[in-house]
Amino acid sequence: MRKKLFVRTYGCQMNVYDSERMSEMLAAVGYEAVETPENADLVVLNTCHIREKAAEKVYSEVGRLRALKSRRPDMLIAVAGCVAQAEGGEVLRRAPAVDIVVGPQAYHRLPEMLARAERARGSGVIDVDFRPEAKFDELPAPERPAGPSAFLTIQEGCDKFCTFCVVPYTRGAEYSRPAAAVIAEAKQLAKRGAREIVLLGQNVNAWRGEGPDGRDWTLARLILALAEVEGVERLRYTTSHPRDMSDDLVEAHGAVPALMPFLHLPVQAGSDRVLERMNRKHRASDYRHTVERLREARPDIALASDFIVGFPGESERDFEQTLALVRDVGYAQAYSFKFSPRPGTPAAADPLQVPEAVKIERLARLQELLNGQQQAFNRSCIGKRLPVLFERPGRGRRQLVGRSPYMQAVHAEAGAVRIGDLAQVEILAAGPNSLSGGSPAI
Ligand code: SAH
Ligand code: SF4
Ligand code: F3S
Repeated sequence: MRKKLFVRTYGCQMNVYDSERMSEMLAAVGYEAVETPENADLVVLNTCHIREKAAEKVYSEVGRLRALKSRRPDMLIAVAGCVAQAEGGEVLRRAPAVDIVVGPQAYHRLPEMLARAERARGSGVIDVDFRPEAKFDELPAPERPAGPSAFLTIQEGCDKFCTFCVVPYTRGAEYSRPAAAVIAEAKQLAKRGAREIVLLGQNVNAWRGEGPDGRDWTLARLILALAEVEGVERLRYTTSHPRDMSDDLVEAHGAVPALMPFLHLPVQAGSDRVLERMNRKHRASDYRHTVERLREARPDIALASDFIVGFPGESERDFEQTLALVRDVGYAQAYSFKFSPRPGTPAAADPLQVPEAVKIERLARLQELLNGQQQAFNRSCIGKRLPVLFERPGRGRRQLVGRSPYMQAVHAEAGAVRIGDLAQVEILAAGPNSLSGGSPAI
């Protein structure tokens, strides 16, 4: 009988990719995925450590699962992802109901860890080794159909050490997968039905690899090669660091039609003083200049960013410089967070912490500005015909949801189109988070 697997994913898209790969790998050893944890034989929590709230969610979830486990003692609980990497054995001490702790670079060994956990119930099995190359080499080639838009991790880890961030500790040093492996996986995905490929990495534009021609390839060169893969009609990459926005990558936005005109380019703050304290290694003017270069290459490019407010030492004047930068750039979409001190990072030990009330107030002001920009951008699409890649069923019967080139969700009547189709849609209305359109035409 097939065993049941429930996976819950927290955090970024790289975790989504990892969860997919874990499910595929566990399917090969007899696990079938289920939608709820109630009857699962194995629950995997693929966790995020980026902010305190994200990390604490795991422990409340394990608390709920413990009640299930007391009724079903055969159930195994695995904590995977960045909390597993950051806390290791501490997870077992804080949450003894957990059987397995597996880091983001070690999950290809899950089947053997499961066997060990079954043999030695109650003792806990830990693997937080750092060898991404081994992981990618050992994962089985997936066979199931892919969705119309598929993630493909091409780069892991980070060498940038922003002073607020745990990623260099949870994901290790920057590692780029070889171009040949990436191209092979893209071909596989296209064969299985993907029409859009989203290249993933913590610093995806720092990707460097040996090309099949023996030369040193950049991300721009890789994108050119992927645009040639049969069946691939759309390409995206995320998340990028402003420092690694090289000329050839900027040019690719003008030269490669498959490369979508939307870029998530986090700036975090608009004040040079704060950027310096964050160790972002660029000034606000460098970022503005990069945005100009991108818009020259691809005038309709829409931009997204991440922001942190209340970073230690951030004054009202610094914060106003963030607002000014947002006004100057104009974003189609953005994520903004209150600074969360993370254990082991330099900024957490900074004596100049900003009071919570100030963080709350600044976040509200920033979000009001960003939400207004997002709405204005969505409204500017009304009356246009946009190509939409349909990805999933919508709320109403006969409704489908897809994505515009600018990453907006577009709701439309199904008409003659099906999931996986790329169709022209006339945009009729815009909400804060999505667009709606008329009947699509292929
Ligand atoms: N590699 C990406 C970001 C990865 S983390 C980059 O360099 O841009 C995703 C986002 O979480 C960050 O862009 C940042 O805005 C936010 N973040 C990271 N650490 C944080 C912290 N300690 N407190 C609040 N937000 C944080
Ligand atoms: Fe974190 Fe900075 Fe690396 Fe992004 S670039 S993952 S924010 S350390
Ligand atoms: Fe979170 Fe790890 Fe991604 S900390 S944001 S899941 S890299």
